[in-house]
Order: sequence, then structure tokens, then C-alpha cells
Amino acid sequence: MSIVRLEEAELQPQHKAVAELRDLFFNMAAAKGRPVTYNLRTYGCQLNEADSEKIHGMFAEMGINSALDGDDADIVILNTCAVRENAEDRLFGNLGEFKIAKKKNRDMVIAVCGCMMKVPSNVERIKKSFPYVDLVFDPQQIHNFPSLLLETVSKSQQNISITDNDYIADDKLIPIQRQRKFRALVPIMYGCNNFCSFCIVPYTRGRERSRDFDSVISELEGLAAAGYKEVMLLGQNVNSYGKGSADGKTFPDLLRAAAAIKGFSRIRFMSSHPKDISDEVIEIMASEPNIEKHLHLPLQSGSDRLLKIMNRPYDTEKYMHIVDNFRRLVPGGSISTDIIVGFPGETEEDFEGTMDIVRRAKFDSAFTFQYSIRPGTKAAEMEDQVPHDIVTERFGRLLKLQNDLVFESNKAKIGKVEEVLIEGLSSTSDDILTGRTKSNHLVNFTVPDELKIPDLPLSSYEGLLCDVKFTKAKPYSVEGVMERIIND
Ligand code: SAM
Ligand code: SF4
Ligand code: F3S
Repeated sequence: MSIVRLEEAELQPQHKAVAELRDLFFNMAAAKGRPVTYNLRTYGCQLNEADSEKIHGMFAEMGINSALDGDDADIVILNTCAVRENAEDRLFGNLGEFKIAKKKNRDMVIAVCGCMMKVPSNVERIKKSFPYVDLVFDPQQIHNFPSLLLETVSKSQQNISITDNDYIADDKLIPIQRQRKFRALVPIMYGCNNFCSFCIVPYTRGRERSRDFDSVISELEGLAAAGYKEVMLLGQNVNSYGKGSADGKTFPDLLRAAAAIKGFSRIRFMSSHPKDISDEVIEIMASEPNIEKHLHLPLQSGSDRLLKIMNRPYDTEKYMHIVDNFRRLVPGGSISTDIIVGFPGETEEDFEGTMDIVRRAKFDSAFTFQYSIRPGTKAAEMEDQVPHDIVTERFGRLLKLQNDLVFESNKAKIGKVEEVLIEGLSSTSDDILTGRTKSNHLVNFTVPDELKIPDLPLSSYEGLLCDVKFTKAKPYSVEGVMERIIND
């Protein structure tokens, strides 16, 4: 396996395939007497979402639109995640659904891509049990999607295309159709070299490779000029951005350069690995007003013994040093984390270590997971897997503690007025807007009549910034009332 950087000329075959598909879909639409459509479902993390935005972009170039419902679409794509077993189960469940749809629409093309396709047993399962899947390809080949699709529509057997190379075709060479009006996802690096013993990602996403500094900055400048208020710099370990690069640029260099671009009010980044984050990054977060005051810092475990076996090269003392430093330098900021319960060999004492760090760090939010065996990883071979009932019981205790902390963090907002970036209508009411503070707190709020913008329905407020006064804390959100619109 090797890293292969692709230049513009190497993507010429893709442009040709797009042009051919455009003609083909145009003729197909004429024959069917209706538009040709696709449906793309995305599972997993923001890196998968970013990949899906590229697939949307390629479809737009092919001249076809997204269908709301997968059953009605002519092309269905499932962009999968392999990080835990339940993510995988969901895919196979959903695939079954399309068997009937395909019976009704024989021309339907079903494609599966994403991290699961880098796990050989999943590809075998598709070959054996899902013969009606037409195309399978891996995340390394997003840039090849047009030629793969063209190949697939012109042949009758299943098209399985898994590559051995870790390609990087810079994002500037690929069309991107962004799915949110206010937020742009910007991967700054691909892959992962950390091989945490529980994790499948290094096997699915390949070796770490950073994008060129100037390319990222010029993309960010373009996004700011286009009116995006929020950018999310993405990577499995953003703090190792640029390692080994010729220009010697590091993540702090990138953050500073991004912060200097006029127009963004929120620059977010994730994830930060505790082994690599420097004091400098926290100092930049403290001093640059447009960098989000929120640090996502996955802990995984509060047991130094387990951290070693997990191949996470930091200990709880180092972790707490980062937390304390952040709390001191970024007052009002928030910290979120990822925690795994039930890693092989986890004792009650190890688990108590996790509870202890959770109490000390007072996480403002946390993604908590029950350990899931990922075949092919080191931890999957470990003999002392923790029985399911013990994992569930510990998980419940952790969840209770963490939920209390989230509530406390929300309560601390009451009475304050802070800037909120509006994300849209709340899921519960058409009169309530939802958004996030600079500290990433979720806020639901009402808009007094006198502050409403004439002729603009609340459903179109997405992307606006406003000040909100917080009036009430809920277990997972804060409630408030808009005080003023900052821009319109
Ligand atoms: N690169 C990020 C980091 O190290 O901070 C994490 C990315 S991973 C996609 C997201 C989270 O999934 C991890 O932080 C970990 O908590 C969780 N995870 C990964 N493998 C897992 C497994 N086998 N079982 C349960 N949770 C897992
Ligand atoms: Fe997985 Fe660890 Fe890489 Fe994160 S840093 S993606 S947890 S191997
Ligand atoms: Fe899942 Fe792949 Fe992301 S395994 S969490 S989609 S990197």
C-alpha cells in the first residue's frame, strides 16, 4: 500500500466519464418521461459526510438531482461506516429494503462505498448475499466515482473495485456540493497512522496524508468569500497535520492562517489527539475570536493501564494538564470527549478511573460507546473481553454521571447573552430556532416579533448570527430568547 498524490491531468478520465453520463442520463430521462434521480445515504463521521458532498458534487455535474426517497431513485448510494458493529448492521438492514425497490425499477443502480467496503468480510457478504448491489468501491476512490458508475451502467455483472493505494486527489480538483448553507466541511488530512488497538479506521482510511497548506487556505478564502460562516477542519488527528511535509507547515500554522481570513465567525476542528495537541493550539484558541471555544478531546479511558493497551500514548496526568490549561486559558469554553466502556480487560478499578476523570474534567458533552469488537484490530484478538452485562451496567453509570454534567454545563449558561449561529428550525416547533454558541452548546430559542426580519420566514434564518439571552436549561440544550440579529 502506498500514498499516491493525483494531479489534475490524472483526473481527465473522470471529466470524460461525467460528460458521457450526462448524455446518458439526459437520454434516459427523455425515454422515461421524468427526471433521473439519485439518493445518497451517509453513515458515520464528518469525513464520510465530506466524501458524500463530493459525490453530490459529481452528480450535479452529471446533471441529475437528489430524490427525497431512496425507493424512487434511479441510483442509490450508501456511504458506510465500520467503526462499530451496529453501524454495520444498519447497512445490511437497509440494503434489504432496496431489494423490493429494485424489483419495481429494474434499471435501478445500487452502490455501496465507504469504510465498510475496506473490510474484506463485508465485501464477501455483499457478493454472496446481496447480488443486486451493482457497485462496490472504497473511500480511497471517491475521485474515481464517475468512471466506476459509467463502467457499472454499461455492464451486467457486479462491479467490485477496491484499491491497494491510498490516493489523495486534492479537494480543489473535485466538485463539492455543500449540504449546509452556513457550514463547510474541509478535510485537511486523510487517513490515520495511530492504530489505536480497538479501532478499524487506520485499516479503512489508510495512511495519514495531509493536504497542501496553500490549497487548504485558498479553499478557505473561497468559502469565506462565498459567505460561509462556519468551517470545520477535519482529520482523525488534526494536530499531526503537515507531519513530514516539505513546507514544514503545522496545524498551529494552519489555524493561525485560517483565523486571519475575514468572514468566518466559527472555525471548528476535530479531532484532537491528546498525544499531539500542543499548548500553542490552546493559546491560539484563546486569542483568536473566530476560533470556536470548544475542544473535542477524545479520552477513551481514564485508566493509564488501559490507555497503554489501547495504544493511546498519553496518560491521565497529561490529559488533565490539557483540560486544566484549556479551562484556564479559554474561560467559558467547553470540552467534549469520546469514551469507550468495556475495552478488553477493563476492571472495575479501570472503569472507576474513567469515572474519576469524567468528574474532574467536567465534560460539557461526551460521546460514550460500548466497546465493539472490530475483527482485524489488535484488541479483537485479546482474550479478556468483558461480559456484555458488565459493560451495560458500567455504561449506564457513566451515562448517568455524564448526563448530570451536561445539565450542569447548560445551567451555567442561564442569564448570559451569547452569540448563536442559527442552524435552522428546531425539530419540535416551527416557531423555535435552533443553533449553537461559540462553545458548541445547543440552543433552542424564540424570536420576539419586533426582531423578525420582514418577509423572511424563520425557516430561512439558517446561517444568520444573533445574540440570544439564555433563560432555561434543559438536560441536553439551553432555551432562550433572541436579543438582536448580528448580521442579515
Ligand atoms: N480519530 C479520533 C480520535 O482518535 O480522537 C476518533 C475517531 S473514531 C471515528 C470516533 C470514536 O469512535 C473514537 O474516539 C472511539 O471512542 C470510538 N470507537 C472507535 N473504535 C471503537 C470500537 N471498536 N468500539 C467502540 N467505540 C469505538
Ligand atoms: Fe481510530 Fe485512534 Fe486513529 Fe482515532 S486516532 S481514528 S481512534 S486509530
Ligand atoms: Fe466510520 Fe470511517 Fe468515519 S469507520 S467513523 S466513516 S472514518
